Amino acid sequence: MAKFLLQHSFTISFLLIILSFFSTFATIEFKHFSRSLSPSSLGLKREKLSHLHFYFHDIVTAKNPTAMRVAQADTTSASSPFGALVMIDDPLTVDPDINSKPVGKAQGIYALASQSDASLLMAYNFAFMEGKYNGSNLSVLGRNTVFSPVREMPIVGGSGVFRLARGYAEARTHTFDPKTGNAVVEYDVYVFHY
Ligand SMILES: *[C@@H]1O[C@H](CO)[C@@H](O)[C@H](O)[C@H]1NC(C)=O
Ligand SMILES: *[C@@H]1O[C@H](CO)[C@@H](O)[C@H](O)[C@H]1NC(C)=O
Repeated sequence: MAKFLLQHSFTISFLLIILSFFSTFATIEFKHFSRSLSPSSLGLKREKLSHLHFYFHDIVTAKNPTAMRVAQADTTSASSPFGALVMIDDPLTVDPDINSKPVGKAQGIYALASQSDASLLMAYNFAFMEGKYNGSNLSVLGRNTVFSPVREMPIVGGSGVFRLARGYAEARTHTFDPKTGNAVVEYDVYVFHY
């Protein structure tokens, strides 16, 4: 290896010079459109892993529902809920009790995305308002088969303390009332962020 490097040192340095010339050229060429920079210049230090635990209240039937059906499939056989779209502004609390300490809201939509089972497309944000997370958001985009014991949904990004976040949320139904459709869901969120 050393012998090879020695014999070809001239060729290698020549190639390196050419390469650096091209990368300099590329930097100059595109300087107004893109540049590379160190994470610390954006105040990004070490990536860490956080675990958040809270309860999600999906209130469909109440004087002030937090989940509202805003659209549905235009079909004569209205027996299947497939195609329904629900907008949510669901409270998040530390305990299963709705009157326990609030930690944020889950705001967005879920849609009945399966013709054969209760499988939802979830697209919503967690807007946190607790302690150092106050004002920071996380975005969830995933599939939720509501009658499975554990559902896993990707965390696709975030803002504030959750800038550049990625992770996953585990959802477990705590209580579900089939008469009203109201549910309390336990959430465990595992997220990498800076
Ligand atoms: C969260 O921040 C808002 C606005 O900065 C503030 O009004 C509110 O009191 C804060 N809430 C908590 C629980 O710290
Ligand atoms: C979180 O989302 C709100 C909108 O709900 C936005 O105004 C706010 O800037 C976001 N927080 C951060 C830290 O970007």
